[in-house]
Amino acid sequence: MAPNAVLSINQVSIHLGGREVLSPTSFSVARGEFVCIVGPSGCGKTTLLRAASGLLIPAGGEVLRNGQRVTEPSREVAFVFQDYGRALLPWRTVEGNIALALEAAGVRDMERTSRIHDVLSKVGLVKHVHKFPSQLSGGMQQRVQIARCLAQQPQVLMMDEPFGALDALTRQTLQDELARLVASDGLTVLFVTHDLEEAIYLGDRVVALQANPGPGRPSLARMLDVNIPRPRTQLATKEHPEFLRLRRELFAFIEQSHD
Ligand SMILES: Nc1ncnc2c1ncn2[C@@H]1O[C@H](COP(=O)(O)OP(=O)(O)OP(=O)(O)O)[C@@H](O)[C@H]1O
Ligand SMILES: [Mg+2]
Repeated sequence: MAPNAVLSINQVSIHLGGREVLSPTSFSVARGEFVCIVGPSGCGKTTLLRAASGLLIPAGGEVLRNGQRVTEPSREVAFVFQDYGRALLPWRTVEGNIALALEAAGVRDMERTSRIHDVLSKVGLVKHVHKFPSQLSGGMQQRVQIARCLAQQPQVLMMDEPFGALDALTRQTLQDELARLVASDGLTVLFVTHDLEEAIYLGDRVVALQANPGPGRPSLARMLDVNIPRPRTQLATKEHPEFLRLRRELFAFIEQSHD
């Protein structure tokens, strides 16, 4: 295991519906690192994230978290879904939805209130604490889901296309908020996206998976380091020569993997 690794994906392969949807794949994620996973639809991104979270046990290989084999979900790992509409309980207010994570962890009333206030101020939703999800925009609902994960005080944040359903401007705002939160809380993140620019913009590293790699070959096809300074900004970062170089490389890879 790499020193400092929070997550180690060791030769992980996954079979679903009688076929191999992920071929033996290995990489590790260091403490505080932000790793993005990209690849064509159906190549196994969600499946890999589920295995890394302990929601699915691999057919081969193993996932280690802090050196321990992962065999079930843990409170140390929070999962943000793309579909915020279904992730939130419509009959609970913003406060009630966030309290869920704390109730499950047995946090006492007094501390619960202060933790809820703390995470809502981090995502700029303090004023909306008593609203129901249906009274909030998509971006605000996704912020509630992120706040609920933060309230859990996890070590690792797993995110499956969390901004995929949002309009471009809201998406950029949430990307910047997430980068700031992750840096200030020292979180380790595994983030799946279809959007190559989003992956480079947010990631310290980008892992590219391929569909149907062929016998004996891993699903993992490329691993790119993103050496672009932080904090990143939407305009300057996306004009950075290194951003453009990585963007070209990833687009070329994805195009070629469609052939
Ligand atoms: N429960 C299941 N039973 C059988 N096959 C499954 C199951 N879940 C996923 N698959 C198959 O496994 C493959 C990988 O699915 P996965 O959802 O991980 O892909 P993905 O890369 O996340 O795709 P997308 O970008 O469309 O979300 C797909 O071919 C899918 O049809
Ligand atoms: Mg998916």
